[in-house]
Amino acid sequence: MTSQPIPDMWNQQFIDDPYPAYRQLLAHDGPIYHEGVWLYAHYTDVQAALRHAGLGTTQLDVDAELVAQYGLEPIINARRHMMLFTNPPDHTRLRGLVSRAFTPRAVDRMRGTIEQLVMQLVDDIDAGNIDLISRFAYPLPVTVIATMLGVPTDDLDRFRRWSQPIAAFIAGSTDTESDVWLRASDAAKEMAEYFVVESRRRRDNPGEDLLTALSQAEEGDDQLSTDELVANAILLLVAGHETTTNLIGNGMLALLQHPHQLAHLRQHPALLGNAVEELLRYDSPVQYTERVALHDLTIGDHRIAAGATVQLFLGAANRDPQRYPDPDTLDVQRTDVRHLAFAHGAHFCLGAPLARLEARIAIGALLDRLPQLALADEPLAWRSNFALRGLRRLPLAIGQQQ
Ligand code: HEM
Repeated sequence: MTSQPIPDMWNQQFIDDPYPAYRQLLAHDGPIYHEGVWLYAHYTDVQAALRHAGLGTTQLDVDAELVAQYGLEPIINARRHMMLFTNPPDHTRLRGLVSRAFTPRAVDRMRGTIEQLVMQLVDDIDAGNIDLISRFAYPLPVTVIATMLGVPTDDLDRFRRWSQPIAAFIAGSTDTESDVWLRASDAAKEMAEYFVVESRRRRDNPGEDLLTALSQAEEGDDQLSTDELVANAILLLVAGHETTTNLIGNGMLALLQHPHQLAHLRQHPALLGNAVEELLRYDSPVQYTERVALHDLTIGDHRIAAGATVQLFLGAANRDPQRYPDPDTLDVQRTDVRHLAFAHGAHFCLGAPLARLEARIAIGALLDRLPQLALADEPLAWRSNFALRGLRRLPLAIGQQQ
């Protein structure tokens, strides 16, 4: 039997550049079964798995004694009620209620605020060398979603501080586990207290913000419980911030490494929307997710036993040569991009319209306002997480602003 190309996902070399390992997975004919786990990398297989009602999202199996001993209830409790980690019927109800608040109109209302914020962040960039992540790509999404939720400007710093450990926990950071869990739990506790107080205030004094809309969200008698409101407000805050940061960071890196594509995009700004889709495909901010078989089931020719884990390599599916001609080539004019970067099916990213809007405005402004932008001559370092692909720093030489 030929050996199977199983990627070593916790290895920093794989995290730095997963694409050679993906090519091996994609060269294999169909999914791979290895020690009770299914590995899916091909576009049609990943898409079929994401659509399959018999595959559910995974719950954490944590020892109750450990949770009590270390005081982890706040983060475990929040995770349990986040729509991302629930299955029908809870998922259908939660997603329905949150979607009523997080509407395309609510997102579109943010356009002016995002444009203003982007301009201000670019204005604050001086000539010389900067790190685009800390100066631009990180502050933008967290400020946008916190503003949308209705968090006052004075509390933004606290929100940024709380979001980081929770995002690391949700994404399954490879940093020392216990430390991430403790910091995430402390942050979740403080954030939950904040949201409880603020949502009560909104019931008496409604505003135009998302927290007011969530507080009012009800479907027949089916209201969001306090735990659910808090958990999903936290999810909205953290789901969008590292991911969108990585879209801007990975996207700008890809463009700067492909100067012809960058020049073409500068000459044809109408391509920006398509370019953002191609950047999402080419170096996806979310590379990986997983599911568990809720019962015995069949996908294509394969029988999957109840309880088996199914690993879904979104980043590989987006480079599948059976789906995309020249998949490893960046082409901002590529037609029919329809990638899986926002997943597919029941858990398709609820924040996709917001992420797209932010990325178009952000990347458009950077190209327009900073014509001499270039990669600085410094080595790149990727964050140590195989699910969320992003740079620790993106050192750029800025040149003169326009
Ligand atoms: C480039 C940026 C983003 C990317 C690549 C991304 C990607 C994803 C992916 C792959 C999933 C599905 C995960 C799975 O099925 O296991 C997801 C779900 C989700 N995303 Fe995003 N996301 C981004 C931005 C955002 C933003 C800005 C928000 C909100 C402010 C958001 C909110 C959510 C929510 C609430 C879910 C859960 C949906 C559900 O379970 O039904 N995301 N996202």
